[in-house]
Amino acid sequence: MEKTVQLYEGKAKKVYATADPALVIVSYKDDATAFDGTKKGTIMGKGAVNNRMSNFLMKKLMDAGVPTHFVEELNDRETVVKKVEIVPLEVIVRNASAGHFSSRYGVEEGILFDEPVLEFSYKNDDLHDPLLNTSHALALKLATREEIDTIKAMALKVNEELKAFFAGCGVRLIDFKLEFGRLGDGTIVLADEISPDTCRFWDAKTNEKLDKDRFRRDLGNVEEAYQEMMRRVFGGQA
Ligand code: TMP
Ligand code: ASP
Repeated sequence: MEKTVQLYEGKAKKVYATADPALVIVSYKDDATAFDGTKKGTIMGKGAVNNRMSNFLMKKLMDAGVPTHFVEELNDRETVVKKVEIVPLEVIVRNASAGHFSSRYGVEEGILFDEPVLEFSYKNDDLHDPLLNTSHALALKLATREEIDTIKAMALKVNEELKAFFAGCGVRLIDFKLEFGRLGDGTIVLADEISPDTCRFWDAKTNEKLDKDRFRRDLGNVEEAYQEMMRRVFGGQA
């Protein structure tokens, strides 16, 4: 499978067409941004970590019955995925307080929730991805009620699978962001990526941050954290 024309360049990935109109190739970059792209940098090796980790996790989720866009890993940075129309919702699942939950509601980070918090943002950088609820999403016609029900159920299932998997790697899955897409026939599948860019990972013993917060907050050892997560996930096979 070969790339043809570039269809899109995002902050962390490029997307290319292929000879098959139903498939595209995603190419992961080392570029990192935060705060709606206002903070920019490079995390050496990030593209390969995110590509390989995301594919590994998507395969695991497919084995558990979650449909995803994943088709085939081509190399360290490039993967064939099903072409989807992205539902413009950032679907966030939180198991403990951190980040915007803490700043928005004025609570410290690391408070474990009795049950997961499910949250939607409107995927729109110009508006700074505003928080919205199901009625807002329906009013804005971002998705149908049926699609939103499917997305919520899939996001919670993903949380259960990933929480258990990361616990086995000595990692607390604090929160993460998912994106979903529609296939040509309207089927909803998990899309985008699952990586240290899109999840908060804390070491289970020390609570050390092993994710993009090291870049967002200038904590240092950013590359090392990505490589450490790679080792935890692949257990010496990376
Ligand atoms: P938040 O606490 O900043 O809302 O982030 C929640 C989760 O979503 C966290 O794991 C990081 C991830 N995230 C993204 O993947 N993209 C984004 O643009 C933001 C703001 C957060
Ligand atoms: N990558 C996102 C941006 O630049 C933000 C983030 O992950 O914090 O807007």
